[in-house]
Formats: sequence, C-alpha cells, structure tokens
Amino acid sequence: MVYQLTEELEMLRQVVRRMAEEKVAPRAAAIDEEDAYPWDLKELFAAQGLLGAGVPEEYGGTGQGLPAVCLIVEEIARVSASASLIVAAQELGLMPILLAGTEEQKKKYLPGLASGERICAFALTEPNAGSDAGSIRTRARREGDVYLLSGQKCFITNGGIADVYTVFASTDPGRGLKGLSAFIVEKDYPGFTVGKKERKMGVRGSPTAELIFEDCPVPAANLLGKEGDGFKIAMMTLDRTRPVIGAQAVGIAQGALDYAVNYTRERVQFGRPIASFQGLQFMMADMATRVEAARQLVYRAAFFIEDAATRGASTGEISRLSSMSKLFASDVAMQVTVDAVQLLGGYGYMREYPLERMMRDAKITQIYEGTNQIQRLVIARTLLEKEK
Ligand code: CAA
Repeated sequence: MVYQLTEELEMLRQVVRRMAEEKVAPRAAAIDEEDAYPWDLKELFAAQGLLGAGVPEEYGGTGQGLPAVCLIVEEIARVSASASLIVAAQELGLMPILLAGTEEQKKKYLPGLASGERICAFALTEPNAGSDAGSIRTRARREGDVYLLSGQKCFITNGGIADVYTVFASTDPGRGLKGLSAFIVEKDYPGFTVGKKERKMGVRGSPTAELIFEDCPVPAANLLGKEGDGFKIAMMTLDRTRPVIGAQAVGIAQGALDYAVNYTRERVQFGRPIASFQGLQFMMADMATRVEAARQLVYRAAFFIEDAATRGASTGEISRLSSMSKLFASDVAMQVTVDAVQLLGGYGYMREYPLERMMRDAKITQIYEGTNQIQRLVIARTLLEKEK
C-alpha cells in the first residue's frame, strides 16, 4: 500500500509549520527552562482546531483523522516537543472514549475535548504496572450505581491539569488483566486527588503527576465498554496513538537536523565552513536518511490504521505497524539528536543552543507509550503468533 498526503493535509502541514515557527519556537526554551505548562499555546491550538483533528465532526472535531494528528504533532515537535505533547496527550486521553464510548458518553465528553475547552489524560501506569500493564492494582468496586475507585497511578501526562481522565482499574482482581475495566473520571469527583508532580529530564512544561483515588465514586454510566474490556481498550488505544509518538520523534529529529545543518554552514574552522568537511557531510547524510525513513514508516502506519476498518485489517497488522513506527522513529530521534549535538561541538552542549534540549526530549519517545523493548516484543509476537 502506498499513501499520499491529500492537498488538505499538505495545507495543514504548511499552516501548522508557520504557526509553530512564529508562535511556538520563540517560547520553546522558556517552556523547558521554567517547566510551566504553556496555557497560551493550548488556547492557540484549541482556537486553530488542532486538538480535535482525530475526532469525527459529529462529536465536535474536524474529522481529519490520524495522519492529520501526526502531521500536527510532527510540525510542533520540530520546535518544541513539550508543546507537541499538548496535542498528543489529548489524542491519547480521548481515544478510549472514541473507541469504546457509548453514543451518550461520546456526546457528553468528546465535543469539550475536541474543542480544547477541557483537557484530558490517559491513566494506565501504576508504580508496579509499567511495561506489565496487566498487573494494575487500582480497584473499582461496584456499589449501587457507582464504582468506588481506590489506588494510585503514576507518570500521568497532564496529571493535575486535566479535566477528564480515562482510568484503568480492576473490577475483578481474580481474573488478572481480563478483570480490568476502563472509566471516565472527572477531576472534581470526591476522593480523587493529584499527588507529586515529577521533575523530568525532558518534555518539561508538560506536567507528569501521580493520581490518588480513595473510594472515589465514579458513576456506573462512566464505565467504558463492559466490565473486563479495560485491557483491550488500553491496547487498542495505544495501537492508534503510538504512531503519534513516532511523529513527535520525527519532528524532534527534523528540528535538530535543520539546526545542525544551518550551523555547519556558518561555523568556520580551519579557514572554511565546517559543512565543507566530508566527515560532517556523511554524518548529515545519514541523519537525513534516517529521518526520512522514519517519517515514511510513521505515515504509512497512520494511513494504514486510519483505513484499517475498511480494509478489514487484523489486530496483529495494526499493532505491528504501530509499534514499528514508534520504535524506529524514536530510535532515530535519539541517534539524530545525539549527532546534532556533536555537530555543534561544545556549543551543542550549552543551554543557549536548542540541541541539548532536543536530545533530552528525544529520550522519552523511546520510553513512553510503551518502551521500545515492549514495541519489539509486540512486533515479534505478531510475527510468531497465529492471527486472531
Ligand atoms: N488489541 C486488542 N487486544 C489486544 C491487543 C491489541 N493490540 N493486545 C493484546 N490484546 C488482548 C489479547 O488478545 C489478550 O486477550 P485474549 O487472551 O482474549 O486473546 C489480552 O489482551 C492479553 O494480551 P497479552 O497476552 O498479549 O498480554 P501481555 O500481558 O502478555 O502483554 C503487553 C501485553 C504488550 C506487554 C502490554 O502490557 C503493553 O503494551 N505494555 C506496555 C504498556 C504501555 O505501553 N504503557 C504506556 C503507558 S501510557 C503512556 O506512556 C502515556 C503517556 O504518559 C504519554
């Protein structure tokens, strides 16, 4: 299958690129330095309709689909990975509602999330359930027309600033991951508090926090799907959002490459611009080749997943491409940003230049939404197991 960006998507890329260069780039260093959520940029993205690109028009989005979400995230990540997470985390948080919500749940929650009026977050990870997402201990006990949630989540992107959380908890601990269920939790439900905010290496300015639930009553009407569907909903969500992290990684890598290439043209050593040295030209050629290969894999995955239903694609095919795109693009982002720092030499290591920030930001793309070891495991399983 080949894919092609439509004229509409090409235009979207241009519009977001201009906005990112004019409005986001000048703020990128300060967002990182101050580690403060850029509310003004959230408002800007909301006003441009960028938070609802993955949401169908009937629920208040623009209905442009996953390739559009990837384009938006890639273009913003070229200048600020932290700012691009505003879009990526919204897509992740709302995806369980999009995939498993009833008509009523979708009508109630999606319009506010698509417009950016409300922020959302995806709450899966726990201190003892990271890669092993099936071993979640947060408990949801049914009592009348509510579920009482008790437990703790950690490393939650948008924790503390989100209005709506999609939370995974066990309704039947005896059944392991088959006893997990997914819930929509609003920030002001009693018994729900936000714990420690993490201090991070990168994507600073995007808050990451602990969530604590103490007999927090969640209306039974907020159960997503059926009891026991939670793990499947989480996996289906990640299948559709890992390419978005791949796109973020491509954006970070492209931003670093562009900066380094320009620098080598200007920097003079031994009486000539360092760009004229073949050793550096070969490095830059390898970097550019990797970035382009990563981009192609990310958009191939995004278009494939977008059309998966019409094509009757299997879960294995979707998971494989999704994991490949995040695995490859994030490894490329790490390699390319390390090399970009090297091209600037001592300057690359200094805070006055953006490359050390890009290198720090690249690291998380190899970790969140499933470490790259987990991506390899998912890919290998799809090769070895019979299709279900
Ligand atoms: N779609 C639908 N169903 C799926 C599925 C998928 N992609 N993957 C698995 N399932 C189903 C399986 O079919 C199986 O059900 P049946 O027995 O009925 O067939 C069930 O789920 C259990 O699957 P596995 O046996 O494969 O489960 P496992 O425990 O061996 O492995 C795993 C699963 C792939 C390791 C999974 O735990 C995983 O992806 N872990 C990583 C978690 C992760 O990505 N966390 C990121 C947190 S979010 C984040 O980082 C956000 C942020 O802040 C930005």
